[in-house]
Amino acid sequence: MSNLKVVILAAGQGTRMKSKVPKVLHKVLDKTMVDYVIDASQEAGAEDICVVVGHQSKMVKSMIGPRVKFALQKEQLGTGHAVMQAGDFINEGNILVLCGDTPLITAETIKKLNELHNEENNDATVVSMLVNDPTGYGRIVRADNEFSKIVEQKDATDEQASIREVNTGVYIFKGEALKAAFEKLTNNNSQGEYYLTDTLEIIKKNGGKVDVMVADDSDEFIGVNSKLQLSQATETMKKRINEYHMLNGVTIMDPTSTYIGKDVKIEPDTIIYPGCMIEGKTEIGTDCLIGPNCRIQSSVIHNCVTIQSSFLIQAEVDNYTTVGPFAYLRPNSKIGEHVRIGDFVEIKNSTIDDGTKVSHLTYVGDSDVGKCVNFGCGTVTVNYDGKNKFRCKIGDNVFIGCNTNLVAPVEIGDNAYTAAGSTITKDVPSNSLAIARSRQDNKEGWRNKSGK
Ligand code: UD1
Ligand code: CA
Repeated sequence: MSNLKVVILAAGQGTRMKSKVPKVLHKVLDKTMVDYVIDASQEAGAEDICVVVGHQSKMVKSMIGPRVKFALQKEQLGTGHAVMQAGDFINEGNILVLCGDTPLITAETIKKLNELHNEENNDATVVSMLVNDPTGYGRIVRADNEFSKIVEQKDATDEQASIREVNTGVYIFKGEALKAAFEKLTNNNSQGEYYLTDTLEIIKKNGGKVDVMVADDSDEFIGVNSKLQLSQATETMKKRINEYHMLNGVTIMDPTSTYIGKDVKIEPDTIIYPGCMIEGKTEIGTDCLIGPNCRIQSSVIHNCVTIQSSFLIQAEVDNYTTVGPFAYLRPNSKIGEHVRIGDFVEIKNSTIDDGTKVSHLTYVGDSDVGKCVNFGCGTVTVNYDGKNKFRCKIGDNVFIGCNTNLVAPVEIGDNAYTAAGSTITKDVPSNSLAIARSRQDNKEGWRNKSGK
């Protein structure tokens, strides 16, 4: 979409959230509300985005990052005042105005609005919706069915308050018409604020053409003002995302208990059991069995992988591998094909090559493990000396006996064995057996002699 600029309002505190966190930074699933609004704008092809920040602006700016421009609204004097702070960002082209607290808006709606606005050659187009309970929203006042003005809840007469067509807070303006309207905008209302909504009436009175696009789906425009509305928006988003994956061939056994982030990719024929949260830029291949009860963040899962009751964060798991139950794969863990990561196993910053088995009660940190290694139960890579971290290197076909400590830095050569209960502090050459424990000494008849 050429020549479309977007201003996103995100300066308010959001008092009704009753939180120390600025409103637009509250999350719906795994993303902040304002991030969804930015995503939808970019998906619709917006060429330039300016986010108006104010309340806790440093925090808001750093959470959003460098993908947009920012304007500062030092004092929150209303939505109209907020848009004015974008200054020269507003020029002769179209300006779309969105609120940072409407996370469910879609790119399709933005495109449709822009098309209508251009086709009709409007000076301003506002998106309205019909709701059963208009409480809190600005009401669309019409005369002879034509748009006349928007009246905020607090300024509405009883008759106006009963209007069920409300302002979604989504608008598109011709930049010049908006600028001209700002010159006449006052804060002469019950809240003493400069309302953006008043610019529409001003544009009309200036001789401009103002039109309303009535939205088909009011769910898209839920303005989140409270934690209750946040949970309603999360529910809608969750349903939308789960439906997308199901129609794409993913089996989701219990969509009500499955939480999948918007940027997650899942191939068809994967089955998600109940109780899973899949977040960030996670990618899951085909024919995987995920869950029940998994949390997977920003990880890559290839094909035919089984993961049960486990937590993965920034990990990669290759084909035909099984993980869990109760495994913890931490950042930078790269697990090969046909690997088994069993119960109560933690892997961190390590590569585990194909065919290796780490079946139970084991910690592998900062290690490079070869192919077809067998870890006995209770192995620990001792990677930290209290100050520094070191790596372990384990070759192919190694057998690590139960309850072995591998004190890093240490290298175990191909085909080597370590005896159960060993604390290995020196490198073990290939094909050898390392025993590092004291011999058993049986004191015969000790019990009777000791008088116990
Ligand atoms: C606004 C609209 C209302 C509409 C509703 C839709 C106005 C006057 N009213 O009301 O007609 O039905 O949205 O959800 O526009 N903000 C700033 N600076 C400010 C004030 C607000 O950046 O000085 C930002 C907020 O952070 C928020 C957005 O603007 O993201 C909307 O503000 P909010 O106070 O939630 O407006 P509503 O009362 O919901
Ligand atoms: Ca709002």
